[in-house]
Amino acid sequence: MQTGSCSISVIFLWLVTSAVLAKAVDNMEGNTAASKRPIRQSQSLCAGEQEYVHKRKQVVLESLRRLGINCAADSVPHIALLASGGGQRAAVGLVGSLYQMEKEDLLDTLLYLGGVSGSTWSMSSIYSDPQWSTNMDTAVSRLSGPGVELGEAFAWINERSKDEYFSLTDVWGVLTSAGIMKQMDLRHLSDEVSRNATNPYPIYSAIEKHCFSDGPIEGKWLEVSPHEAGFTELGLFIETSLLGSKFEGGELLEEKPEMDMVTLQDSMVPLCLRSEERFHLVDAGLLINVAYPPFLGDKRDIDLIVAPEYSAGNMFETLTLARDYAAEVRRAFPDINNKTLEERDWPKDCYVFEGKQNEPSIIYLPLFNRRNCKDAEEVKAKMEEFSTFQRPFSQEKIEFVLEVAKDNIKNNKETLLREINKAVLRQHNKRKSMQH
Ligand SMILES: *[C@@H]1O[C@H](CO)[C@@H](O)[C@H](O)[C@H]1NC(C)=O
Repeated sequence: MQTGSCSISVIFLWLVTSAVLAKAVDNMEGNTAASKRPIRQSQSLCAGEQEYVHKRKQVVLESLRRLGINCAADSVPHIALLASGGGQRAAVGLVGSLYQMEKEDLLDTLLYLGGVSGSTWSMSSIYSDPQWSTNMDTAVSRLSGPGVELGEAFAWINERSKDEYFSLTDVWGVLTSAGIMKQMDLRHLSDEVSRNATNPYPIYSAIEKHCFSDGPIEGKWLEVSPHEAGFTELGLFIETSLLGSKFEGGELLEEKPEMDMVTLQDSMVPLCLRSEERFHLVDAGLLINVAYPPFLGDKRDIDLIVAPEYSAGNMFETLTLARDYAAEVRRAFPDINNKTLEERDWPKDCYVFEGKQNEPSIIYLPLFNRRNCKDAEEVKAKMEEFSTFQRPFSQEKIEFVLEVAKDNIKNNKETLLREINKAVLRQHNKRKSMQH
């Protein structure tokens, strides 16, 4: 288990050191050799993602028209749904939220779907169906049906949690959770590059802890999409299909099949033995339990973030941590009113943190809230009942979380629509100011 993740980190460590060297060489030689390098260093989107996003915008545009929202073809808003972590509570909650988004005809307004930790477990399961966005009933019945795959997955995770490297299981989920959620499905993430734009573009997140625990914040956050995997802030990426290959000095040493669960486990042992230190990726939830970093700044130019919040612990913490992170890496982030933070023990079911110009607006939707809990005590009791670390949920518990998550979307449809409208305007204004 730890060996697989260890080696990923070794690869990334090489990426960092080698990219620095590569850059020095670039400076001397110009860009002639750059195209041959397997590592892309850039703060902009790769061609594959650009192309996907371009196609997806057509789907978003049609969806906005169905909703009666006026939008010019060049002002399609960039809307991302970012699901928090929170174990099975988050995994099930995300399915409920997306199910209701589909029922309200809001799902196709999403350009992106981002997850960390628990929510990535269900993301990768959902994306095993290439047409899942039109078919959330199937995802729900997969959760609830007999022979619950999730149940097996969580039994497996519980077993792993006895391991001292428990947090690695989340990363396991990030990179290969199709294998976890559907035992024998050793699908590769990069297989998705050939898909059409039926679904929002998926971005999975993890953090690198050990190599960089004392290092700069830029080395911590990792994002993995069907096209690329790499460091968000450093802008260092390899093709996702090369996850599992060997690199040295910025060059591809040996191309290997893209890692799945089995190859991860088996092929990486020698790498680890060679390294004196233990490197590993950990659950990104330990840093920030919502995958904000890949969605801040100009690169993806997000106008609106829909953030269903399934985390345990201090409500609003994911948000304040993300705000502090944004400040550290100098990305725009909306203001958070201190008065709002005082409501943490018994939060409303929906908050809007409004972006002014370049900041995205955030719609924050706490799972347990004033609408479904009569007081702070009940919120606390619910969090304990559905705690992150426990045996796999019973059928009853799964259904309860599903319903709560669905209701939160249903009850706040008006707010979502209003903010989507504003996002159209914001994107339009950005376009206009770019023309001047
Ligand atoms: C994607 O492909 C499927 C299956 O061929 C098709 O039904 C669907 O309309 C396509 N969607 C888009 C957005 O092109």
